[in-house]
Parts: sequence; structure tokens; C-alpha cells
Amino acid sequence: MQKKALEKKTRRTFHEIHKAQGDDNYIFTRLSTLLSTDFLKVEPDFFKGKICLDAGCGSNANATFNMLSLGAEKVYAFDLDETIVKTAPKYLRKFKRKYELSIGNVFKIHFPDNYFDFTHCAGVLHHTVDVYKGLAELARVTKKGGTLYFDVYGKGGLIREITTSLRLKYQQDKEFRSVIDNLDQKVFKDFLGWIQSVMSQKGDRMGSEISLALVSELFDKDLVLTIKDRLQAPLYHEDSEEELIKCLQKNGFRDIVRLTKYPRYKNVRRFLSPLYEQYDNKFARFLYGSGQIQLKAIKNF
Ligand SMILES: C[S@@+](CC[C@H](N)C(=O)[O-])C[C@H]1O[C@@H](n2cnc3c(N)ncnc32)[C@H](O)[C@@H]1O
Repeated sequence: MQKKALEKKTRRTFHEIHKAQGDDNYIFTRLSTLLSTDFLKVEPDFFKGKICLDAGCGSNANATFNMLSLGAEKVYAFDLDETIVKTAPKYLRKFKRKYELSIGNVFKIHFPDNYFDFTHCAGVLHHTVDVYKGLAELARVTKKGGTLYFDVYGKGGLIREITTSLRLKYQQDKEFRSVIDNLDQKVFKDFLGWIQSVMSQKGDRMGSEISLALVSELFDKDLVLTIKDRLQAPLYHEDSEEELIKCLQKNGFRDIVRLTKYPRYKNVRRFLSPLYEQYDNKFARFLYGSGQIQLKAIKNF
């Protein structure tokens, strides 16, 4: 797919997902608390007075909200087109004048060299045709002595292989595409309710022991949107930690640290949280390869 067409499709896909995430209080709160000073391994007042960038902020700008909640002086947020301007202000209402939204591309960031104290770019680079070009731009706009944080998808692992083949199926198989596009909580509820009722009829006691309320919690809207994210996004580039660290070093960064956290979910992904946090564990490596790579680095003076 050509770069322009890819960007258009990526933005259109995520606009729908981000709107649905933003309009759900629980999901928006989960997303807008992903950053914390503990997670970033910085002082509690780290964000105070800081000029920050949220590159590829998405339509609900959850990281902008997050950084402002942590005390950032100002957050500049951009994404590929004007769709973000229609939605993001709704979620950022309580931070009027503390943020600026604009249209931009991570390949050619419309800010001068050495501009930001804290540059943030979550879940964006792997959806582009050149992760390293984007990373070099993020490096350029970070101040000397400033901090760059980004996360990308990672490389390898059985789950990733399955996801990649399902994404291909989504692109090639109209019927499967329609199932994914129309997936919602009710589909899960109907399906699992039917499984349970047949199990009960056939005398398998597990069928009635697990309540439908619990099943609905484990297969919630948050999970539906994660599935859509993984399969509808046209491109998920895979990169290794080593390649990314090399690129950061080449662009003048030091103190490169891989960060990790125990993510909190209400849904079935809560059983995956140990794997997400302890990406080095043998089961995690088998299933998720290099895992989600979350890197923090300081720009040299
Ligand atoms: C998975 S979403 C992440 C959004 C947000 N950072 C978050 O964490 O919720 C990926 C975002 O990257 C944006 N994006 C993709 N390619 C981009 C590019 N070349 N420049 C800027 N943004 C881009 C998409 O439009 C989309 O909003």
C-alpha cells in the first residue's frame, strides 16, 4: 500500500476505535493513566513546568490528558488529519489553554530542533512505513537533556504470528472482515451464553457455575476494541529491542531504559498481564516474542 493511502486508512480505522474508547469512562480512564512517574522511573514532580509532545495523539488524546493530569505545563499534540480536532477537545475540556492540537506527520514533525522537554509517542511508529525515520524525527525535536518515551509493537511470538495471519485474513476475506467489523459485546454474550446453555443441558456443571455477568466482564467493550485495533489496522510493523536501541544511540541518546508495568484490565486480558509485565519470562517470550517495547532515553548535551 502506498504511504498516503496507508496513512488515510490507518487514521480512519483508529478514529472509530478512539471515539468508542473515549466515550467509555472506564476505558478512557484506563488509557489516560497509563503514564505515571513510577512507570517512567522519574521524580514525582517530573512533569511540572515541562513542555511535552504527544506525537500521533489519536482522536481521544488520552496521553495528552495523562501528561496534563501529571502536571505538564503544556502539551502539543498532533495526528495525521483534522478528525482529531473534531473529537479530542471534548476529552480535554478541563485543560483548556494547556494544550494545542495540530495536524502533522511523525516523518516530518512541524516543530524546531530541541523543542520538547518530554517527547511521547505511544503505539504510532509500528503503523508507519519507516519506524526509524519517525524515531529520528522524535529524537530531533527532543531537547538536549530532555526525555523521549515511545512504545512499539515488538517482534515475534506465537500470539503475534496468529494475530498477523488473522490480520491478513481480515484484509483478504470479506466474510471474516464483516464479522470483525460488526463485533460487539452482544456477539460475545450471545455466543458464550449459548455455549453455557448447551453445556448445562448436557450436564456439564461448569455451564451454570460461571455467571453470564462474569463472562460479560471478561469479554467487554475494551476487548472488542483491542481485537479491532489488532486486526483492522492495515500495518503492524515488528521491531526488536536491539534495533531500536541502536537507532536511539545513533541519534544521540543515552540512559536508555526498557520500561514495564503490570497493566490493569477488567477483561480476560487480566490473565495476560503477568506476561506483559514480565516480558523476559520463558512463557512470555514464547507467546509474545520481544513483547511490547516501551523505551525511555535521555538526549545527550
Ligand atoms: C494506535 S493509535 C495510538 C494513539 C495514541 N497515541 C494512543 O496511545 O492512544 C495510532 C495513531 O497513530 C497515528 N499515526 C499513524 N501514522 C502516523 C504518522 N505517520 N504520523 C502521525 N501519526 C500517525 C494514527 O492516526 C493513530 O491515531
